[in-house]
Parts: sequence; structure tokens; C-alpha cells
Amino acid sequence: MSTKKIVIDPITRIEGHLRAEVIVDAHGVVQEAFVSGQLFRGIEIILKNRDPRDAGLLAGRICGVCTNSHFRGAISCVEDAYSLEIPKNAEIIRDLIAMALFIQDHVVHFYHLHSLDFVDVTSALLASAKLTAQEAQKYHNNPYSSDYEAVLTKVGNFVKAGKLGPFSNGYWGHSDYKLTPEQNLILISHYLEALKFQTNISKAIAIFGGKTPHPQTLVVGGVTSVADMLNPQRLNDYIFIIKEAKEFIDRAYLPDAKLLALVYRDEIKGGIGRANGNFLCVGGYEFEAEQRLFCNGIIYNHDFSNITEFDASKVTEEIDRTWFSGDAKENEICYTDLNEDRTLKTAKNDDKYSWIKAPRYDGKTMESGPLARVLVSYSKGNKLIKSFVDEFLHDTDLELLDLSSTVGRNGARAIESAYICEYIFKLVSRLIQNIKYYDTDTWVKYDFEKLQKETKGRSFLEVPRGVLSHFVSIKDAKIENYSVIAPTTWNATPKNFDGLRGAYEEALIGLKIKDTSKPLEVLKVLHSFDPCLACAVHVIDADGKELSHYKIKTF
Ligand code: NI
Repeated sequence: MSTKKIVIDPITRIEGHLRAEVIVDAHGVVQEAFVSGQLFRGIEIILKNRDPRDAGLLAGRICGVCTNSHFRGAISCVEDAYSLEIPKNAEIIRDLIAMALFIQDHVVHFYHLHSLDFVDVTSALLASAKLTAQEAQKYHNNPYSSDYEAVLTKVGNFVKAGKLGPFSNGYWGHSDYKLTPEQNLILISHYLEALKFQTNISKAIAIFGGKTPHPQTLVVGGVTSVADMLNPQRLNDYIFIIKEAKEFIDRAYLPDAKLLALVYRDEIKGGIGRANGNFLCVGGYEFEAEQRLFCNGIIYNHDFSNITEFDASKVTEEIDRTWFSGDAKENEICYTDLNEDRTLKTAKNDDKYSWIKAPRYDGKTMESGPLARVLVSYSKGNKLIKSFVDEFLHDTDLELLDLSSTVGRNGARAIESAYICEYIFKLVSRLIQNIKYYDTDTWVKYDFEKLQKETKGRSFLEVPRGVLSHFVSIKDAKIENYSVIAPTTWNATPKNFDGLRGAYEEALIGLKIKDTSKPLEVLKVLHSFDPCLACAVHVIDADGKELSHYKIKTF
């Protein structure tokens, strides 16, 4: 049977460059997929020979979105190396910044990076404002938006002026768009509201982070935002913004996720966008001794009843199919993707095809992210999240397994946003209680000169897109080696000598592409993982082995 190769490049424009190549049969069904990180980075090289106390500030520059995640990952990693235990209040402040980032990331991802794979803007213009208001009532009894007439005018003006901005370049009219004009208008109105949400939630991050997107208040040993913590007005401002955010999540985001789950029910039940059913969650964010926001655990093959504990020693990383060569001691940066005439090659079964390294857990590829957290935590009976998952499944008439799909992945992200808001309120109450009892410590005193000169540290954190790990080795009080495995590295891993497909590639297999000149289906699957390629590409071995020589070949 004849096959055809479809190349989509870039899949993402904002967070690094991702390319997908899929091979489809004569019926347009995907037989094989190659997903490639196209941008070499190398931040770890910059970290070498620096003062370990600066690791956070430098690692934060890995990404323009996941800044705080890397900042904290690096600080925690150095604290681990020196066995420094930080005060509880410092942890709460760090969590308050992180939690605000979780909901910012999820809302921005859904509306601004992904929703236009489901929402046909041109169809929304045909909607009746009155019928839209009635439709919105089906998903929440007090919908977030009410003035749909104004939204119609606003979007109509965009179109009339010929300045479509973010709405240009869509596959509008594609048969995979299934929403009615009224449903499209609901989501477009929330798309516009989410722009305001994005601004406000950034202010919440900045209250304790100093500024955003690159916070400044995390230091090895604690946080520096003591004055903010002790100022009731600052705490109030933070809570006020989170309360507003919660309104949007409860009355717009969650209802929209339910709407999609109802309209795309056939796709969910057909398992469209499902990866191999292996999920990794390292857990974390402890509120009280017995209560953790996320449970740790590993799920294999969608078996939710046999969850094993996460074991850091089972994490490995390989380079066979990446544009690195040499052994673990000497990585040669070896880009092989240009033909003689400088045109791009396309991936072959035995070729190198990505800058993203290949992390494995116990030799297997894993999906990481909100879906993994929801599945692991819910299956382990996590009391903090149970009611949120139950309500979503009840309202959409779905089962837990159904969340393992393109549309379900978005549902998991919306559910997580809702329970994170509740968690934030608990954290703030705890912080206020501590302050009332004169527990105002935010940092631990240490003498850097007296710390070990040679040591190693690591941190495993759940961050918005999934599991983030940082590894450091320190020698003569300088960073000797640094390594990062980011959430997108797990999900977008290339095949290795094992031939195993990662979550992105596996989720594409069997996908039917109706019109190969407009592969909307591929975009939808890959975007549902919330790719961050800026974060995904890293150069140093996960075991912290010395990789001191980098050779760069140029044409
Ligand atoms: Ni990132």
C-alpha cells in the first residue's frame, strides 16, 4: 500500500520549535511518527564553573514560561546537595508562587495555545447572541460571560479590518471542527477573557516572586519575600487575585472542558490521542503530614489498580537517536539533518532526528503532566482531588480511562486547576496561622565557606507540564556539572535503540487524517500535551557523568 509523509514544522511557535513527521497509508491513517526538537540550547554549559548559589537565576533562563519551575528546581537541587532544610514558611511561599504558575500555565495553554484546534472562529461569527447565552447555561448555571453581542462585534471588527491577528492562519471550515456557532462563540468570548486572566495571575506570582516571568526571591536556604509575607495587604491582594481566577476557572474553563468532552465524545471513546498508558508522577506539595496535593506513583498500561512507588534510581537518559554522538564521557554535538544543498532531511527509521534526549523509567517511555498526576493521585485515593474528578466524570458521563485521550488530557488540566485553587486557600490559611504564632522564619542560616566543597544534589518536582528534575555536581565550591530533564523531554522523547515511541509519537499512531494538506488532527493531539520545547532540549547526561568536551561541527 502506498504511503505518504506529512511534515508539520513548527507545531509550536511560542515555546521552542517542534517538528512532526507522520507517515500515513492510502486511507490517511498514521502508521509511524517522528517528533523532533529543532532547537539546540545548552544552558547547562553556561552553568558550569559558576557559584552553586547562582544556579537558580541561570537555570530560570531555560524557558520564558517555565522560569519559576527551573528557578526552584535548581535552588532545591543545590539545597539537596548541601543538605539544607528550609523553614516551612519558605516552602509555603515557594508553593504560592508555583501554584499561581500552575493555573496561569493551564489557562494560557488551553485558550491561547490550544483552543483554536477546536474552535472555528469563522463559525462563531454566525452565532446568535441570545442562543449562545442559552447554550452556556447547559454547562454552568452562572456562566462567566454574558455579553455575547459585544464579543460578536469585537471579532467581527477584526475580520472587517482584515487584521485577524491570532485568528489568521487557521484551518477554518475543516470538518474536524465540531462545535456549533454558539459553542464556538462561548469559547471565543472566554479566549478574550483569558487574556485578562493572564495579566492578573502574573501579578499574583509577582507579589511573592518580585517580578514575573523571572522571579527573583528564591535563594538557596529560603526566600527573600519576608516583608511581603508579613504585610497583610500583600496577602490580601494575592488572595483577591486567586479568588478572581477561581471564578474564571469554575465558570468558564471547567464548563468549556466539559463542553468539549460532550461534543467530542466519540473521539474520547475512540481513544484518540491516547499514548501507551504509562504514567509517571513524582508527587509533592505537602499541606499536612497526611495530605499531599499529588501522590507519587507509576502506572503501566493503564492499570490503575497496581500503582508502584516512584524510584529515582530507575530514571535513565540515552542519546542514540539524538544529534549527539560519542559516549557518555564526550558528547559531540553532531547535527545531521541538512542535505548537501542545505535543505532539511526528513527522519528515517535508523537516523538521528532530535535534539531532545531520550529519558526512560525502568526502560520504558512515560507520559508526564496533569493527566498523569490526576490518574495517579485519584487512583491512590487522594482526598484533596477526589470530588473534583468525580464531578467531572459524572457531568460528562465518562470513565477514568477516557481521560487518557486528547480531549481528556484537557479535562484533566481543567480539573487540576480547580483543585489547585482550593489548595492555595489552605496554604494561605496555614501561612497566616504560622505568622499568628510568631513563626516568621523564611530562611535558614548557613556559612557557605563551611559547606562541603564536593557534593551532589538532585530535585524532582511536579511543575505545570509534568515532572522536572535537576541534577548538580559541585567541586571546589563550583558547579562541575549540571543536568535537566524537563516534562516535555519525557513526552517528546525520540525513539531510542529500544525503538519505543514516546507519548507524542504513540498518541499519533492510528490517527486518521481527513485532509493531508490540512493535518489539524495532528496539531490537536500534540498541542494537548502542552509542549515546551525551550525546556525540553538538554545536553548533559542525567547521571551527572562528566561530559566536559563539546565539539560543534559546522557546515
Ligand atoms: Ni518551558
